[in-house]
Amino acid sequence: MPLIALCAGDGIGPEVAAQAVRVLDLIDAKHKIGFEYVEAPVGGCAYDLYGTPLPAESLEKAKKADAVFLGAVGGPKWEKLDYSVRPERGLLGLRSEMDLYANIRPAKMFAPLVDASTLKREVVEGIDLVVIRELTGDVYFGKPRGVEKYEGGKRGVNTMVYTTPEIERIAHVAFEIARKRRKKVCSVDKANVLECTELWREVVTEIHKEYQDVELSHMYVDNAAMQLIRNPKQFDVMLTGNIFGDILSDEASMLTGSIGMLPSASLNGKKGMYEPIHGSAPDIAGKGIANPIASILSMAMMMEYTFDNGPVAREIENAVAAVLEKGFRTADIYSAGTSKVSTTEMGDLILKELK
Ligand code: IPM
Ligand code: MG
Repeated sequence: MPLIALCAGDGIGPEVAAQAVRVLDLIDAKHKIGFEYVEAPVGGCAYDLYGTPLPAESLEKAKKADAVFLGAVGGPKWEKLDYSVRPERGLLGLRSEMDLYANIRPAKMFAPLVDASTLKREVVEGIDLVVIRELTGDVYFGKPRGVEKYEGGKRGVNTMVYTTPEIERIAHVAFEIARKRRKKVCSVDKANVLECTELWREVVTEIHKEYQDVELSHMYVDNAAMQLIRNPKQFDVMLTGNIFGDILSDEASMLTGSIGMLPSASLNGKKGMYEPIHGSAPDIAGKGIANPIASILSMAMMMEYTFDNGPVAREIENAVAAVLEKGFRTADIYSAGTSKVSTTEMGDLILKELK
């Protein structure tokens, strides 16, 4: 029986997770898969209950499961806590303890949402790119780190680190994914300034020799940020490190209209954690207006990458597309002439399409 660990998390996390689970339940009933779930509290909610954002039991459950679904973590309630117990540490802990080094963040435009983008139609229409972000290295995990006393004041330190094997394995993921797409990889670094990313460029170039059918280009991260706005359609696969990927994937998401639309997968082989790329959005939590689509599409990615079930993934994606086509929108993607619906109503509509 496929086992899924559920970490609904904080803020709008539980609201969007609930809709995603409804979708999976329906898929389960329809295709007789037999999913089993286990709840694994992570984030601020776990801190409140157990005094840690990643309780050992939750980690154990996540490791045992075939796949993990995570809603979102964090919120103002926990912002004053020490770094070591902030909700975000729960998420980062899961990523590193499970060695989920490959973060896949697709930014695909759903045609009916062209007008929800802040950019011009001709710039964003038909966008279909994917950011491959390395997820367990870089300044996120490099040592030394911390804030220390320094000359009467303080000094904050984080360290950008990448080793050859870490770069090699993420480069393989990017080239493999590019092979199934338009066969173009753009590797993003800051090799003109940072030695660590000079190594990145060197290793990616080396691995590329095994993928001569894929076209490789390199871009500095500042230029990449600019090019994403100027002409995003030039990109197919963007390969980059943890911190640049964090920033560029938020930027890429906005091209498609709303950060509330985009799913992600964090993988190590078939094992994966699936989460919407948006955060816990404390400002709208509990209001029933959050967009559950990113979570629902994350379940589609789970079907594709962990359970090798492309057809069911397409079924979910098509149901989402059909609901958007009919003009239903949550508040974040609403525009004049469409019908505004709540989180649950959006779930209902997608379920109806799936039936
Ligand atoms: C993301 C988020 C996380 C990150 C935070 C919540 C730690 O921004 O998944 O992109 O920085 O990786
Ligand atoms: Mg981010």
